[in-house]
Amino acid sequence: MIKFPEYFMWGAATSAPQSEGYALNYGKSASTWDKWFEMHPEKFNGDQGPDSASDTYRLYKEDVQNMQKIGLNSFRTSIAWTRLMPDGEHVNPEAVAFYRDYFERLKAANITPIINLFHFDMPWWLMEKGGWENRESVMAFARYAKTAFELFGDLVDRWTTFNEPIVHIECGYLTGYHYPDIIDFKKAVQVGYHTLLAHAAAVAEFRKVKPDGQIGIILNITPAYAKSDAPADLAAKEKADLLLAKSFLEPTVLGQVPPALITLLAEHQLTPVTEVGDRDLLAANRVDFIGVNYYQPLRVQAPTNPHFPALTTDDLYENYVWPERRINPYRGWEIYPEALYDVAMMMKNDYQNIPWYVSENGMGVADEERFMAADGEIQDDYRIEFMQEHLRQLHRAIADGSSCFGYHTWTFNDCWSWLNGFRNRYGFFRVDLEHNAQRTMKKSGHWYRQLTENNGF
Ligand code: BG6
Repeated sequence: MIKFPEYFMWGAATSAPQSEGYALNYGKSASTWDKWFEMHPEKFNGDQGPDSASDTYRLYKEDVQNMQKIGLNSFRTSIAWTRLMPDGEHVNPEAVAFYRDYFERLKAANITPIINLFHFDMPWWLMEKGGWENRESVMAFARYAKTAFELFGDLVDRWTTFNEPIVHIECGYLTGYHYPDIIDFKKAVQVGYHTLLAHAAAVAEFRKVKPDGQIGIILNITPAYAKSDAPADLAAKEKADLLLAKSFLEPTVLGQVPPALITLLAEHQLTPVTEVGDRDLLAANRVDFIGVNYYQPLRVQAPTNPHFPALTTDDLYENYVWPERRINPYRGWEIYPEALYDVAMMMKNDYQNIPWYVSENGMGVADEERFMAADGEIQDDYRIEFMQEHLRQLHRAIADGSSCFGYHTWTFNDCWSWLNGFRNRYGFFRVDLEHNAQRTMKKSGHWYRQLTENNGF
C-alpha cells in the first residue's frame, strides 16, 4: 500500500469560466472568451461557448455535496474578474453573494478552498485597451486582487494569482489559439512581463490584506527533454526551459528574472519595456507555494529551419515526437508519469524545496459515452490507472524529500474547455448536456473516495 503524509490535500480543480456558466448574467460583463465566441462561434468545438459551461452557478450547492461524496478535503476554482468587478472599478453584489456562499459551503464541508484569480479570462473592457500589452493592466489586476482578498479573505486562506500564465502568452500571441489570435514574439514577451508584474503587485496587496494567508501561482511546468545529447538539442532544451518554466518559476520563487533569459531575449531583440522599480517589486514579492499542472512532457530538438532573430518559439526549439512514447489514445497527449518525479526533484533541488502541490493532473477523453455501462456509469478505468501511475511517482518524490503537499485532479465535473468546448472529458462526474447538466458519478469518483479515505492506495 502506498501511503501519503497525514497533511496531504486531496482535491480537484476547475475554473470560473469553465464551470460557472451564466456568462453574461447576474451582473457579469464579457471576457475575451464571451466576445470571441459571439464573433466566431465556428472556432469552438461543437459551437459550444462559455455561456452554460457546467452550470455551476446554478448547481454549486449540489456540487459541494458531491465533493463530500468523493472525499475531497480541498478544491480549487477561480473567481471571474468580470463577475466580481464587471467594469474593473465597482463590485457586483450578486457576485459577492454567490462566491461567499460557495466558499462558506466548502468550508462547512471541511473542504479547503484554494482560490485563483485569473484563468485565461481577460475582461473585454481591458482587452479593448490592449489587455496585458498595456501596462495599465498591472494596476487593474492588483486592484481586483486586493478587492477579492478583502471580500473573501476571511473565508479563504490559500490563494493563487494566475493559472498557467505561459498559456495566455503563447496561445494569444504566438500560436493563435486564444484571443487576440496574433503572432508577434515581441508583444508576447511584453504580455509575459506585464503578467509577471501583475502577479507581483497582487502578492504585494495580499501581504497587506492577509498577512497570515498563503499565496502562490499555478504553473504548467515540466523539464524539457532533449532529443539527444548533441549540443544543438541541449541548447534547444535550455531555451525551452528558460522560456516556459524558469521565466515564471525563478521570479516568483527566487525573486528575479533569470539572467540567461534576459540575455536570450536581448540577443533576439525581444527585450520588454521595463520601468525603474520593477526589479524591486519582483524581489520583494515571492510566493509561499507553487501549484504545478502536469499532463504531458515537453520533448524538444534543435529547430530545423530557424529565423534569426526568432519570430516565434519554433525558431528557438522545436517539438519532437519521442518514438517510444506512450499515448493517451483518447486525447493524443503523451503519458509519461516519470516527469512528475523530475519536476518534484527540480522543485527540491533548484527552488529551495519550496512547498508545492500538483494543481492539475488528469486524463482527457473524447466521446466518453462509449465507456458508459448499462446503469449509466462511465467505466473510466483508464483514468484510475493514469492517476495511480502519477501518484506512484509523486510518492517516490516525497520519499526522496520533495515538499509536495497535495494532489488535485483536473477536474471535478466535466467542464467546458476553451476552443475544445466539451470535447475532452476529465471529470469524476459526467455532466449531461442534454439533461439540464445532470451530474453522474463515474467509476473514478468511487475510486477517489477510497483513495482519500485511506490516504493512499
Ligand atoms: C489545462 C488548463 O492546461 O488543460 C485547463 O488549465 C484545461 O483550463 C485543461 O481545460 C485541459 O485542456 P483540454 O484542451 O484537454 O480540454
